[in-house]
Amino acid sequence: MSLTFEPALNLHKEKGLYRERKILQSLDGMQRRYEDKIFCSFSSNDYLGLSKHPSIIKSFKQAADDFGVGSGASHFLGAYNHFHQELEFALAEFLNFPKVLVFSTGYMANLGILGSLVQRKAAVFADKLSHASLIDGAKLNTNFFKRYPHNKLAQLEKHLTQFASRQKFIVTDGVFSMDGDIALLPSLIGIAQKFSSTLLVDDAHGIGVLGKKGIGICELFQCKPDILSGGFGKAFGCFGGFVASNEIIIENLIQFARPYMYTTALPPALAKAAYTSLLLLQTESWRRERLQSLIAYFKRAAQQLELPILPSQTAIQPILVKNTGQTLALSAYLLQNGFLVNAVRPPTVPENTSRLRISLSALHSENEIDRLLEHIALGLKLIRINDNSV
Ligand SMILES: Cc1ncc(COP(=O)(O)O)c(C=O)c1O
Repeated sequence: MSLTFEPALNLHKEKGLYRERKILQSLDGMQRRYEDKIFCSFSSNDYLGLSKHPSIIKSFKQAADDFGVGSGASHFLGAYNHFHQELEFALAEFLNFPKVLVFSTGYMANLGILGSLVQRKAAVFADKLSHASLIDGAKLNTNFFKRYPHNKLAQLEKHLTQFASRQKFIVTDGVFSMDGDIALLPSLIGIAQKFSSTLLVDDAHGIGVLGKKGIGICELFQCKPDILSGGFGKAFGCFGGFVASNEIIIENLIQFARPYMYTTALPPALAKAAYTSLLLLQTESWRRERLQSLIAYFKRAAQQLELPILPSQTAIQPILVKNTGQTLALSAYLLQNGFLVNAVRPPTVPENTSRLRISLSALHSENEIDRLLEHIALGLKLIRINDNSV
């Protein structure tokens, strides 16, 4: 039986796309232990360094002591409790949306929105670089699904004109997870209104990071899409997902979103931890300021070394190597020299755009950034010389 599935794996390996999971142990700050050596990680989405905050850990433990680890059932069968509700109310206030619904993961939130709100004859348009959960969700109910070139809104308008009579959705990341750049929210809102479309923005990488208060892309541009999704697994340093919108849309999700209805609810201890994190994200604004200063530092230093960075102003700073083999070799070279940096390659990113995806955190130091960039510059040179001499 398994022989049927072997060719696909072999082909994947031949294309250099095979992925392996490293067993890592998280230590202080961004340090990780791997095979008895200590590495500095630039591959975590813990942008504000909250995942080990003592107050978050304390509230997690207390809630687990009182309510157990597992939530025990789905939301409708008795697992929805006051921690979930407290989190939803506080997040709605923070994001300045009428209502919030907490999902078990951000991936499920996007599947839930698109799987329940998109009708069979609707048309869905997604930025080409949107996260996989938006793409997968968009394909659930309709065959009328088109991807427009990244941030090319004239092309989006062209598509929308062709599907004028249908129910229409526009979906996009707020901060693009592999490029680190930001969606053009005010223009997207204008286009959505012009074409009577519903706009969904997944700001998983922007909330907590962008804006003085950390509200994300909505604070940055002072405007809001119809639906905003996000997760607790990144700047919040926790786990879970959420959707913010108006009462009617949230009630539709509660009644019809299958990834909300037919799954075990987020454990209450995680809801409590995310609530505490939401408070800290507001009170400890120094974390966001520190992160912003490190982003600026990283960009300046990378430019001085003439590294191929992309125009990202966020914590996601890609180094565009292009060639997949060279990207993997560079990631391996960095590992040998004490750095954990993810190589991202197709199908996660388009062909010939393989890159290192560097995630910065408020817990990094300038010295760690300097050493990382020096090794990238040297590694890239060595790998390219080696390739040319073969
Ligand atoms: C933009 C974006 N949306 C959604 C998700 C999924 O969120 P979660 O990990 O909570 O399922 C991710 C990555 O994890 C992401 O990068």
